[in-house]
Amino acid sequence: MNTPQKQIGAPMNRVDGRQKVTGAAKYSAEYQLPNMAYAVLVGSTIAKGRLSSIDTKAAERAPGVLAVITHQNGPKLPGHKPVGKDPSQPQTVGSALRVFTDDKIRFNDQPIAVVVADSWERARYAARLVKAQYAQEAHQTNLEANKPNAFLPTQAKKNPKSPVADYQRGQVDAYKTGALKLEAEYVIPTEVHHPIEMQSITAHWEAPDRLTLYDKTQGTMATRRDFAREWGLPEENVKVIATYVGGAFGNGLHSWPHESAAIVAAKVVNRPVKLMLTREQMFTMVGYRPHTWQKIGMSATPDGKITAITHEAIGQTSTYEEFTEATLGQTRMMYQAPNMTTRYRLAALDIGSPIWMRGPGEATGAFALESAMDEMAYLLNIDPLEFRLRNYTDKDPENGKPWSSKFLKECYQAGAERIGWNKRQLKPGSVREGDWLIGYGMGVGTFGAHRGTSKATAKLLPDGTVLLQSAVTDIGPGTGTAMTQIAADTLGVTPAKVRFEWGNSDFARAPTQGGSAIVNTVGPAVQEACLALKDKLRELAAAGNGAFAAARKEDVTFADGYLTLAGNATARVTYTDLVKQAGGQAVTVESKPSDKGREYSMYSFSVHFAQVRVHQLTGEVRVSKLVSCADAGTIINEKTAGNQMKGGAVGGIGMALTEAAVIDDRFGRYVTKDLAEYHVPVHADAPAVEVYFVNQPDPHVNALGTKGIGEIATIGVAPAIANAIFNATGKRIRELPITPDKLI
Ligand code: MOS
Repeated sequence: MNTPQKQIGAPMNRVDGRQKVTGAAKYSAEYQLPNMAYAVLVGSTIAKGRLSSIDTKAAERAPGVLAVITHQNGPKLPGHKPVGKDPSQPQTVGSALRVFTDDKIRFNDQPIAVVVADSWERARYAARLVKAQYAQEAHQTNLEANKPNAFLPTQAKKNPKSPVADYQRGQVDAYKTGALKLEAEYVIPTEVHHPIEMQSITAHWEAPDRLTLYDKTQGTMATRRDFAREWGLPEENVKVIATYVGGAFGNGLHSWPHESAAIVAAKVVNRPVKLMLTREQMFTMVGYRPHTWQKIGMSATPDGKITAITHEAIGQTSTYEEFTEATLGQTRMMYQAPNMTTRYRLAALDIGSPIWMRGPGEATGAFALESAMDEMAYLLNIDPLEFRLRNYTDKDPENGKPWSSKFLKECYQAGAERIGWNKRQLKPGSVREGDWLIGYGMGVGTFGAHRGTSKATAKLLPDGTVLLQSAVTDIGPGTGTAMTQIAADTLGVTPAKVRFEWGNSDFARAPTQGGSAIVNTVGPAVQEACLALKDKLRELAAAGNGAFAAARKEDVTFADGYLTLAGNATARVTYTDLVKQAGGQAVTVESKPSDKGREYSMYSFSVHFAQVRVHQLTGEVRVSKLVSCADAGTIINEKTAGNQMKGGAVGGIGMALTEAAVIDDRFGRYVTKDLAEYHVPVHADAPAVEVYFVNQPDPHVNALGTKGIGEIATIGVAPAIANAIFNATGKRIRELPITPDKLI
């Protein structure tokens, strides 16, 4: 009998790799529907005020133009709730900014009109003919200037247990009375996700009350819910397809104005409408990692025990939504510290709303915390790795619960060996090669091992293929591949006998891809659906063959077109018979986390070690070596998981050294408009990243033992590099990105 290899853990190639490299994979802007029209947005040129008039006549007369839609003639959105009713509502629900509903300008480049034409070029030309007059008001786009107006998020006011509420253990601000103390401020600028694929959508009203969207989103169900609500439709009347997503990093976690505009446009012209943002528009209306100010106070005993930490943060949000993130979460749980104070505030600016960007708040918070750890180790004259070990915790100090699993020490050891930590000198600036100063640094990351509820459908096809379906998207990590492996492993078949389909809201309900939670959440649903399918087939087989009636599920095997039974040569039923009996029915299961999980604190952990070379004269920084080690539970696919770690590490290089979206506060408008000015790391900026996985199953998150990788791949990388730069040069840079001007 054909015994398939164990699939979980195998470094399998991506199931969609061929489609992607041959161009067969269709992204949202690549759907060509009959009678398609094209939409181009017109953005405001002020940051705050009102539209006093908007002249669309010339645009309407331009060749090929089908409609010019503004707040004056836009259709009513039956489910629209005006902005400002409750800005603390979850970001993707209800109060998010919608287009053409009023004359108010809330940020520069806010869509004020959409031009629809029979070609994209004609729409683009006509968009330039729209003329707007404004009643301008004074705007505020500067975080530093607006810090005095920072406020406690509504969510924290309502719920003192909220992760963004003030937190206290031990004495308040106890670091102030510590013998050995550190006080430092850290700043990260606005960073923009900038996946290669721009945000785009094709909206098609198939009937007056039936809408299909080919959309770049991380959540087909969330997008369906948002737009069903906006148009007052039952959810099942809206279908969202997002099979291929060319990177997102968080900017597909929210429904945005351009999606709203394309749907409005399609309604008005009664044709399918395609709308794709420009790179410049990617800065202004689809979110970003918010500019954030932080301050850390830390005290320690001379032998390196932290006695107190106070960590404060002020994150930027917009005036019409309260975007919050877990900037201070890592600080509360990473190190033993008997006295802990965290305070999180928001400052509302006249800029579009931020959104989570890879390793969201934790990556921001870790820059401050892990830099401060390095600073304190330096003050104590203790090796920074040793300092972290002296403050290691075997239970979660935030809530006293045991960890579901924690192999961070193993990561420390593996990483230290691989980077050559023993070559690091305590005294900065001691290692040089010609004009290059060489330094080593480390940074730790953590992210909740979240698991939600998900469904999955499994169906045996006549050719013996098992078809699995889930509404989940695959934004690049290789979800389709991991799920194929989980299914093949559970069923005991080769991956070639499994087809996993995703990215369609009509498929079994699944959460939005984000928060490192998809393998944790959809993985068990796929596993359970396969077990249920096996069981159902066994029952069907039992009807015609008694041997199956008494058999244990585990002994039932699929192979070569037959359902067979281990140790019983006569027990054979063909798939074709089974499929006939099953009547084409699929098994759908719902998989949920168990309550028992609440007894544990569940986190993935990572540590990143960097070796940098800093040119003494020019301040140029080269990351010459980067080692990323992760305790992320079971690794389903070493290859795709390794890719994720590398991608996250490169994102961290950008955060540390190059990325910043810059606003000219006089106009409240970004001056970085493209990738020539907003610098994402390129190949020459990144060394070959070495990845190490502990690969030990977590016994509590799910039956697969996974914990999630997506966020910890980035969290902790930027401080590792900043700390390495300090070790190389003796210069402590507390404001990212660390560009050469800060080092000379
Ligand atoms: Mo991620 S920031 O959850 O896409």
